Amino acid sequence: MSVLVLGGAGYIGSHAVHQLIDQGEEVVVVDNLTTGHRSAIHPQVTFYEGDLRDLDFISSIFAKEKIDAVLHFAANSLVGESMEKPLQYFDNNVYGTQVLLQAMVEANVKYIVFSSTAATYGEPKTVPITENLPTNPTNTYGETKLTMEKMMKWTESAHGIKYVSLRYFNVAGARETAEIGEDHRPETHLVPIILQTALNQREYMTIFGDDYDTPDGTCVRDYVHVEDLIDAHLLALEYLRNNGKSDIFNLGSNQGFSVKEMIETARTVTGKEIPVKIGKRRAGDPSTLIASSEKAKRILGWNPTRTDITKIMEDAWNWHSTHPTGYGKEDEA
Ligand code: UFG
Repeated sequence: MSVLVLGGAGYIGSHAVHQLIDQGEEVVVVDNLTTGHRSAIHPQVTFYEGDLRDLDFISSIFAKEKIDAVLHFAANSLVGESMEKPLQYFDNNVYGTQVLLQAMVEANVKYIVFSSTAATYGEPKTVPITENLPTNPTNTYGETKLTMEKMMKWTESAHGIKYVSLRYFNVAGARETAEIGEDHRPETHLVPIILQTALNQREYMTIFGDDYDTPDGTCVRDYVHVEDLIDAHLLALEYLRNNGKSDIFNLGSNQGFSVKEMIETARTVTGKEIPVKIGKRRAGDPSTLIASSEKAKRILGWNPTRTDITKIMEDAWNWHSTHPTGYGKEDEA
């Protein structure tokens, strides 16, 4: 049987594909290449270029391939953009998942591992964040992911499709071999922006606010290495195939680093100055987000091993310094 990876040309999806192949799985990738990169697609997969919202297209893949499980990474994921284009986010994320679930019901495919987000919680009242805390998204992106989770819950009760939803905190780093890595266009994420500044691709970077109620005044986030994150997906897949019940898990490192600490770490790793300016707060940024991932450790047996922030930064730097233009010009939209 094969695993269908939706969004397998994206940052996180491509890392999942590599680990699935390493583990001996047959992999089918679907990606519409709007944010994914053709050169990130693993040469050993069967690749279909197309859109999740096209039911005939998705159904034809289930008809052609023998698929028992889906890993779903195909979604828009920028908080700021989601506030400007809410309907695009509902269309691509929520409607796309509706079409996918319909095709899975028709093809009798029973397992889905889903990319969710800490943005489902909104501004937490307590940290570390556990899965039983209330979900009050403060942006459209988080709302769409929460809606997608709810859609899976009700589809399970009617049609028996089992799901694991993984709520990511701040994913960073790259595959240790630096074959694949992070390349968003435009880039908005902190670690790539720091490293682009280290490469002199930016004259300086801006810290979005230094007047938060945190030890150094800058926002604190929980950074999880993309390879540890994918380990959890493979465990979730195994868990579902072994009749595990549908559930939701946080994936983080249980430790928080401020924006300033991340910049200092990058200065040490790269040996570069990394000029910064202090700017205004970015709308919608919570001051502190730290995960409790105890549940994933206890139930899935997750054992993240790349939690050292220097290691995360080094792997990200390996990718950025060897691929200063990311996947290069041929992928530019
Ligand atoms: N930051 C800066 N300057 C920059 C970029 C970011 O100071 O140029 C700060 C942000 O204000 C924030 C921190 O660095 O405090 C991290 O920002 P990112 O944009 O890298 O990540 P976010 O925490 O905003 O968002 C991430 C994912 C989202 C997800 C969210 C859930 O990108 O998809 O975590 O917590 F929803």
